[in-house]
Amino acid sequence: KKVVLAYSGGLDTSVIVKWLQETYDCEVVTFTADIGQGEEVEPARSKAQALGVKEIYIEDLREEFVRDYVYPMFRANTIYEGEYLLGTSIARPLIAKRLIEIANETGADAISHGATGKGNDQVRFELGAYALKPGVKVIAPWREWNLTSREKLMAYCEQHEIPVDFSKSKKKSPYSMDANLLHISYEGGILEDPWAEAEEDMWRWSVSPEAAPDQPTYVELTFDHGDIVAIDGEALKPHEVLAKLNKLGGDNGIGRLDIVENRYVGMKSRGCYETPGGTIMLRAHRAIESITLDRESAHLKDSLMPKYAEVIYNGYWWSPERKVLQAAIDETQKYVSGVVRMKLYKGSATVVGRKSEQSLFDESIATFEDDAGAYDQKDAEGFIKLNALRLRIAASKGRNQS
Ligand code: ARG
Ligand code: SIN
Repeated sequence: KKVVLAYSGGLDTSVIVKWLQETYDCEVVTFTADIGQGEEVEPARSKAQALGVKEIYIEDLREEFVRDYVYPMFRANTIYEGEYLLGTSIARPLIAKRLIEIANETGADAISHGATGKGNDQVRFELGAYALKPGVKVIAPWREWNLTSREKLMAYCEQHEIPVDFSKSKKKSPYSMDANLLHISYEGGILEDPWAEAEEDMWRWSVSPEAAPDQPTYVELTFDHGDIVAIDGEALKPHEVLAKLNKLGGDNGIGRLDIVENRYVGMKSRGCYETPGGTIMLRAHRAIESITLDRESAHLKDSLMPKYAEVIYNGYWWSPERKVLQAAIDETQKYVSGVVRMKLYKGSATVVGRKSEQSLFDESIATFEDDAGAYDQKDAEGFIKLNALRLRIAASKGRNQS
């Protein structure tokens, strides 16, 4: 019996390694990925070795993460409940996929993760796993064990001589955090009171808008088929784009968010997020679409977006409906190429220019000056009259008396 564990190298998942070995008398395979969380992943190797793990997977998935998950999601201008840019949600399907691939490679029949039984992440990991390997067994220790506090976890460590450095020296953050190239999230601690303002020193990626430079930063983003491929003319890979925009955005106080959201399991949850690069990308993408997309395809994709966001938030990346939506969204991106110029200043990312060879913007038609016959204003009369027909009929029957 063998189980593949999504292993961070931290306290919780180290306890899980030992707990799985003891409770299930099984071989544990660990999988640790760099998805841009900003911490070294290599230390996970010696930690896993010390726990007796023989098969250790450590991978750099940053490029795949942004190219195949973040970018496709941004083509839809995706936001959940009007605010959340889905930084954690979009990383889970990739972790689920690798867990299953590793299970297949190593002959494991089970996967395991460190998500609690109260959250969205368990759902995302497991829906992904079942979608990719229908007979897989899932072990979610948080739903089974009684190690319900940090003290109990520490005690378990001592009892089992788990040789990892979670001593007092490494001060644990009071928040439950999750980070990758798209965002860093904070939940729990004082945030459990939705009225309590987050402390300034909680935020790790951005300066406060108040502390941001008094001079604006301008940046030019080049799009190709809906994806950013260059910054200020320099061609970059997707994960390099996001890393660079995170830096530019963070330095200018961009991308902080404080919300209460609806979790799929039914509860409301308060979270704070920093998504500097994503916030810039979203704005810029809308701007390039504004000149390159036909109105009706733009409005249609906008109407699909909340559904698409819900599909991703709830963990259905590997579902038929996500693929249907993705195909429609990707089709709209055919002509979404060009350049957007942004001004970053004290927490805001403002579009100040956009241009494209695929632009549908026609100055000769739109002008307030003499358009030399490009547009016949007389045509508008009949257009309005026919559109008003049903309104006039209703009014003549007395229906519009305020
Ligand atoms: N509430 C956010 C979401 O569901 C963030 C979850 C953070 N996860 C974590 N393990 N800290 O996407
Ligand atoms: C967790 O419960 O493990 C983190 C929060 C979430 O998944 O929503």
